[in-house]
Amino acid sequence: MKQLELNDYKQGVADLYDRRSQSYDSSDWHVQICHRLIEYSDISYGQNILDIGTGTGHLAFAAAQVAGTEGRVIGVDISARMLDTARGKIEALKLNNVEFLLADAEVLDFAENSFDRVLCANTFPWMEDKEATLRLWYKFLKPGGKIGIHTPADTAYIGHVVLRKVLQRYGITIEPSNRIGSIESCQNLFASAGFQAIEIKSEQHGNYISLNKAKATWQSIVTHPAPTAPKSEKLLSQLSSIQLIQAKSEFEAELEALQTEQGIWDDIMTLYIIGQKPIIKQ
Ligand SMILES: C[S@@+](CC[C@H](N)C(=O)[O-])C[C@H]1O[C@@H](n2cnc3c(N)ncnc32)[C@H](O)[C@@H]1O
Repeated sequence: MKQLELNDYKQGVADLYDRRSQSYDSSDWHVQICHRLIEYSDISYGQNILDIGTGTGHLAFAAAQVAGTEGRVIGVDISARMLDTARGKIEALKLNNVEFLLADAEVLDFAENSFDRVLCANTFPWMEDKEATLRLWYKFLKPGGKIGIHTPADTAYIGHVVLRKVLQRYGITIEPSNRIGSIESCQNLFASAGFQAIEIKSEQHGNYISLNKAKATWQSIVTHPAPTAPKSEKLLSQLSSIQLIQAKSEFEAELEALQTEQGIWDDIMTLYIIGQKPIIKQ
């Protein structure tokens, strides 16, 4: 099988999903998001659709059913094992208009103007250079074609929000889950990549979590950052040990202040961003 040349960060992401590939389909959270993105991106019969970070193919298969025999869906991913799981479903679903490619979404080389839709569910936050990546995907769209991306809003996940606020006081700016931010910043990002008619829909999927679960964010971002937390990897070296103790206790105190009888409200505001490549009149 073709090997990808990935930097340490991306290899970390690929390894993470290789490990998750066996259990990935046991939750329907991602399926739900994929179906919603399909609904908002207005796909139809006969279209060519690119599914970025296709994983085990939830969105690709649903899109392939709509695109039908005249359409085609290509799913790309950097995790070979996620793709193995996806390929394993093709026969059972009796679909011959979908294929899966091992590729890094930030260095794809499809022909310009070749897709009606470029869709990306549960994956965009992993992109390292979001502006350049959007400009690349823009090229692949036909004029009038649409991009559809799902991402958590910057208000999502209380542990991350509080951590970001506390560390800001120490002069450290982090984007713990590498997301793209507010509705306004999404709008600007997509507009600067050339998209028009940008529509952003938001949905709240939040719930109450325990104080301990919220506090565990410190561990996953600061003490033992995952290999996939590039922007936070130097946190420990940026703070003295006294500052670290102080920051941790401020972080925990802020979370404790948010506790209610039901637990702590964990906002999971989800954004669906749809944009169109302008139709250039001859
Ligand atoms: C949370 S899963 C989402 C899978 C699928 N879109 C879904 O919603 O079920 C994220 C996927 O993005 C892939 N991914 C992350 N970075 C990528 C990149 N640079 N290029 C291609 N795939 C990437 C991961 O390997 C993983 O399979």
